[in-house]
Amino acid sequence: MANQTYFISQFNRSSNNRVRKMISCERLELNHMIHHLCRPRGITPIHPEFELRSPITLSLLVMLLRKPLLVSLFSAFCAFLLVFAICCDGNLDCDRDLVRRDLWSSNMMNLNARKHRNLPPSPSALPICGHLHLLKTAPHRALQALSKKYGPVMYLHFGCLPVLVISSPIAADECFSKNDIVFANRPKSLASKILGYNYTTIGFTPYGDHWKNLRRLMTTQVFSTASLHRSSATRREETHFLVRKLFQDSDYKAWKKVNLKALFFELVYNVAMVMVAGKSGPVRDDMFGPFKMIDICDYIPLLRWVGFGGMQRELVSLHKRRDGFLQDLIEEGRNKIAGSSLTEEEKTYVQALLSIQQAEPDYYTDEILKGLILPMFTAGTHTTALTMEWAMSLLLNNPDELEKLKKEIDNNIPPGKLLDDSDLQKLLYLRCVINETVRLYPVGPLLIPYSSSEDCTVGGFDIPRGSTLLVNAWAIHRDPSLWENPGLFNPERFKGFEGGHDGFRFIPFGVGKRACPGYGMAMRLMGLALGTLIQFFEWKREGIELVDLDESTGMTLSKVKPLDALYRPRSSMVSLLSQL
Ligand code: HEM
Repeated sequence: MANQTYFISQFNRSSNNRVRKMISCERLELNHMIHHLCRPRGITPIHPEFELRSPITLSLLVMLLRKPLLVSLFSAFCAFLLVFAICCDGNLDCDRDLVRRDLWSSNMMNLNARKHRNLPPSPSALPICGHLHLLKTAPHRALQALSKKYGPVMYLHFGCLPVLVISSPIAADECFSKNDIVFANRPKSLASKILGYNYTTIGFTPYGDHWKNLRRLMTTQVFSTASLHRSSATRREETHFLVRKLFQDSDYKAWKKVNLKALFFELVYNVAMVMVAGKSGPVRDDMFGPFKMIDICDYIPLLRWVGFGGMQRELVSLHKRRDGFLQDLIEEGRNKIAGSSLTEEEKTYVQALLSIQQAEPDYYTDEILKGLILPMFTAGTHTTALTMEWAMSLLLNNPDELEKLKKEIDNNIPPGKLLDDSDLQKLLYLRCVINETVRLYPVGPLLIPYSSSEDCTVGGFDIPRGSTLLVNAWAIHRDPSLWENPGLFNPERFKGFEGGHDGFRFIPFGVGKRACPGYGMAMRLMGLALGTLIQFFEWKREGIELVDLDESTGMTLSKVKPLDALYRPRSSMVSLLSQL
């Protein structure tokens, strides 16, 4: 494990005796060293979780934060409180490293900045909150506006967190070619700790052997060409189930309204459930819908220290529900494989994982297994469902493109044949529509944050170790110097596109070592579902107004208004639909 430098300081009220040590040690030795240092001095050992030891109350904090004008006063008060507490409270029990980072961000102890003189450009920052006040709109839009002023390589502070923001393919190339291993880590946060089984799941775990194991295992079981071939029947059956349901609910020749958001989520969720556990079930969008992953306390740990709970309670409750659900799936799988002799092909994902557990029980604990199942419902569901919702919204607003797509399907799929995976390679325009959709609306507009494990350089600037990297894919996809008429929905621009990141200007599934492993599966499911819906039904908007394309403000790009559309079975398809 990499060497880490920990800065530990402790102040004693009675003797005003200051103990300050710079300790360089292995992460695993840290606890031992802390005890060794603290015990003889009668000091409470440091723990990552903050505890309230000062007179400020949560209600006072909430009252302050309700008045926006008082927020800056509150920041100053926090700084004062910190200094006061450090000087006066001998029993302070908190994470000194985080406190040091807060001080650092408020420019009181800017050690890193002194060491790294050639940092990328940055707007002026406020004490404590850094540049957070600049993120007034959706983060990808606010960062795009800032990058127009400060350039495609910027260095910001979200509270105490140093953040490198890049918004050009050249900078992305430098991060993911020259510095690919340096940026193959993920930053730590309360959400990834609680929801990610203490950073052991594939999306949140640091780059290293454990991550490689998880990625290899998921590739073999889910993402490889052979596994995708195996799961094609599930995608086909669930798509047909959806089409059947739409047909049964339809008014035949009359137009009928349907909520496509809910429909797409149900489809993707059911595909995941059947692959994981061999059954579909009630949709759990309460547990697996897009979730706010950002806790303000990750950026301003002082808030936690003064008693502000942030999202912790919410996260713990969500994790408990998810954990119970996943444990039930494991127990069910365990009961089913006991005494049975299923072949590898017949096993569900859970059953395959349980067989792997039997061979290596110490490594593949139930917790690791749950972490391997979780991304099927989190990373894999709303991303795919939201993209299909964006695609249909764009097609409804551009009936000419919808017509072209329908023609392509009719020309390539013989009458009476149901579309399946093997047809997708012929439907090039359908692929163009999906690519154009994820260019305009990448559901992860800033991808998933990375974290630098070493000092490096990007664009000639020094980037300190421990910086969070945000790649503004949304801004790159809409850069007029890279795309002609970037705001226009024009699937034709992807004609002849072979796939890949096209010189880092097309990165909706991320890049580098941590790029999305679910790309192939998502493209197949989206192609099959959109293609089948257009093959069987006619679609149009509810009225003459265009479908509202307003984006929500979170880190996931979802539509503010869920998509409702009108549909009716195509007359030429009614007999085929009746046989489904
Ligand atoms: C339209 C659908 C999807 C989109 C737009 C999408 C997008 C992304 C993006 C942007 C990342 C971050 C990549 C990076 O850090 O460079 C990612 C990571 C990931 N995605 Fe997807 N994804 C989709 C579907 C799926 C599906 C269907 C699955 C699995 C069933 C999946 C599993 C994952 C996992 C496990 C990671 C984390 C990889 C790692 O950190 O090593 N995704 N995805």
